[in-house]
Amino acid sequence: MRSPIRITEVGPRDGLQNESGIVGVEAKVAFIDRLSEAGFPEIEVTSFVSPKWVPQLADASEVLGRIRRRPGTIYSALVPNERGLERALEARVDKVAVFTAASESFARKNINAGVAESIERFRPVAAAARAAGLPVRGYVSCAVACPFEGPIAPSRVAEVSHMLLDVGVDEIDLGDTIGVAVPGDMDKLLAAHSTVTSPERLTLHLHDTRGTALACAWRAIELGVRSFDASCGGLGGCPYAPGATGNGATEELVYACEGSGLSTGIDLQTLLDAGRIISAALGRALPSRLLKAGTLVPCGKLTVPTGAVAKE
Ligand code: HMG
Ligand code: MG
Repeated sequence: MRSPIRITEVGPRDGLQNESGIVGVEAKVAFIDRLSEAGFPEIEVTSFVSPKWVPQLADASEVLGRIRRRPGTIYSALVPNERGLERALEARVDKVAVFTAASESFARKNINAGVAESIERFRPVAAAARAAGLPVRGYVSCAVACPFEGPIAPSRVAEVSHMLLDVGVDEIDLGDTIGVAVPGDMDKLLAAHSTVTSPERLTLHLHDTRGTALACAWRAIELGVRSFDASCGGLGGCPYAPGATGNGATEELVYACEGSGLSTGIDLQTLLDAGRIISAALGRALPSRLLKAGTLVPCGKLTVPTGAVAKE
């Protein structure tokens, strides 16, 4: 229970892909640079997908070319096909992520291919990425439910994870794309994966649409998972998943972990600064409650909102 928690910040990718107004390169770079200063082991910076499908991330190469890279941070990006990988390699990413789903309908809406077809498409992508020395993450979306098909059986999710591992991905990331999971779903998902992969090779990507992301993350921590995605400010969602809102806010996960003696290596105050930068660029408040809670005071290694201190 006490080993460190690894958090991948996905705000610049999952967070911004869902914004309809185009955010300028300069604001994206300022956001990512401040996230780097917060000390993340990994930041998912952007996607090398078709700009016709996600216009917001058409500037992927420029953003990667302009950020200040912090030694110790892995700068990763989504790639849907070989064309995406070529672009990602030119932009000198450190790691790539391929993405499919446990739901046939969602895979078709999101990447215009069935599940099995998409995974075959990833085989040469994974081989070329590994030949270039890059690790490969494999996302399984709709790991709990699909916006078009409803609940998805954990055994089906595990089957898709197995198929991804078979084409050469290094780690599996299970996405609760539309934020429906409850803590008991974590038990079922992990039990279904027990013969497919170890908790050490699993990441959980929990959207917070129904306010359950942190409770689910906590249950997964109890079950041995140590790697999570989260989004600064709680930004995000998938433009091809109706009703999806952002991932659990990173600062709320950091706050819960650090306050409970689980190290994340992330500086909370710098992370909150990053949230303010992107909130200003978007011209609106973000969903994160911790970001709204206001003034900070130092509290041991951690900084916590004054409100929380006053209640103690
Ligand atoms: P398609 O239309 O079937 O592909 O899309 P295509 O091969 O026919 O190409 C269409 C056009 O896009 C062509 O251009 C290609 O050259 C171009 P045209 O000839 O018409 O001018 N193209 C590209 N351009 C740049 N980079 C590329 C690329 N590929 C094709 N890589 C495709 C298939 C997969 C490309 C498309 O469906 C796509 O890009 N989908 C991405 C959708 C997306 O990004 N969704 C959000 C991310 S997933 C997510 O959020 C879930 C996650 O967070 C986990 C969770 O929450 O569960 C990860
Ligand atoms: Mg997502």
